[in-house]
Amino acid sequence: MSIMESKVVFIGAGNMAEAIVSGMVAGDFCAAEKIIMTDVRLDRLSDLEKEYGIATSTDNGVVENAEMVVLAVKPQVMSNVLKEIAPVLREETLVISIAAGVSCSSIEAALDGERRVVRVMPNTPALVGQGAAAITAGAHADEADLEVAEAILQCVGLTVRVEENELDAVTALSGSGPAYVFYLLEAMLAAAEEFGLEKETARSLALQTVEGAARLMKDTGESAKNLRERVTSKGGTTEAAIHTLNEENVKGAVLKAIKAAYERSVELSNS
Ligand SMILES: NC(=O)c1ccc[n+]([C@@H]2O[C@H](COP(=O)([O-])OP(=O)(O)OC[C@H]3O[C@@H](n4cnc5c(N)ncnc54)[C@H](OP(=O)(O)O)[C@@H]3O)[C@@H](O)[C@H]2O)c1
Repeated sequence: MSIMESKVVFIGAGNMAEAIVSGMVAGDFCAAEKIIMTDVRLDRLSDLEKEYGIATSTDNGVVENAEMVVLAVKPQVMSNVLKEIAPVLREETLVISIAAGVSCSSIEAALDGERRVVRVMPNTPALVGQGAAAITAGAHADEADLEVAEAILQCVGLTVRVEENELDAVTALSGSGPAYVFYLLEAMLAAAEEFGLEKETARSLALQTVEGAARLMKDTGESAKNLRERVTSKGGTTEAAIHTLNEENVKGAVLKAIKAAYERSVELSNS
C-alpha cells in the first residue's frame, strides 16, 4: 500500500511537476491513480499518462475533488490559474505552490479565504531525485501540512524548512545554484578540450570530481576552506590555480553574482 492516500492534482505538467510525480510514484509514496495532472498541452498530458499511469485533464476544475493541489505553473500564469480554481476549490484542500516569487499571502488572497498554503522552492536536480528544496508555511498551514509537503518533496531529494522571508536567499543559493556549478563545469571542460583530452574522458572526470568533492565535504562535515587548503600544497599545481583565481577575484565575482540573483528574486517577488 502507498504511504499517501490523498487525491492530488498537479496544475501545470511541466518539468518540475513531472519530476515530483515520478518520485512519488516510483517510491510507492502515492498510487498513480490518486494523481491527476492538468496542462494546456494535450500531447504532453498523453505522454505523462503513458509514462506514469496517472490521470490527466485540460480542465483545472478537476481540483474540486482534490485533497491537495500542487501549483506548478510558471509564476506569470499563476494569477489566472488561481482565479480559475478559487470558486471550485474545497475549503479544506491543502495548496502547495512551487512557483518562484509568488508569496503565500498572495495565493491566500487570490483564493479568497483562510487557505492552508505551503510554498516550496525546489531546484532542477529534483529531475534525477537529487533536489534541494526549501519549504515554508503560509498563515493558515499547520505542522501536519508542512510534513505532507516535506514528504512529497523528499521523494525527489532533500528538504529544509525556512521562513518565507528567507526564500529569496534560498532562490539565489540552491534555486539558481545548479547553474553556477554548470558554469564552472563549462570552464573546466573548455580547459580539458584545449589540452586535447578526449571529450567523454574529460566529462567523466569532471563530473566525478564535482560529485566526489561534494560527497567529501558532506561525509567529513569539514568546511570548504579546510578541504581546499588541504589539497593546496605549497608550490604545487592546485596552489598555482588558486593563486590565479584569487588574482582574478573569482570569489568576489561569485559573491556578486549570487547577490544579483537575490536582488532579482526580491524584485520578481514584489512585481
Ligand atoms: N525549473 C526550475 O529550476 C524551478 C526551480 C524552482 C521553482 N520552479 C518553479 O516551478 C514552476 C514550474 O516550472 P517548470 O520549469 O516545471 O515550468 P514548465 O516546464 O513551463 O511547466 C509549466 C506547465 O504549465 C503549463 N501551463 C501554462 N498555463 C497553464 C494553465 N493555465 N493551466 C495548466 N497548465 C498550464 C505550461 O504549458 P505551456 O508551456 O504551453 O505554457 C507548462 O507545460 C514554476 O512556477 C517555477 O517558478 C522551477
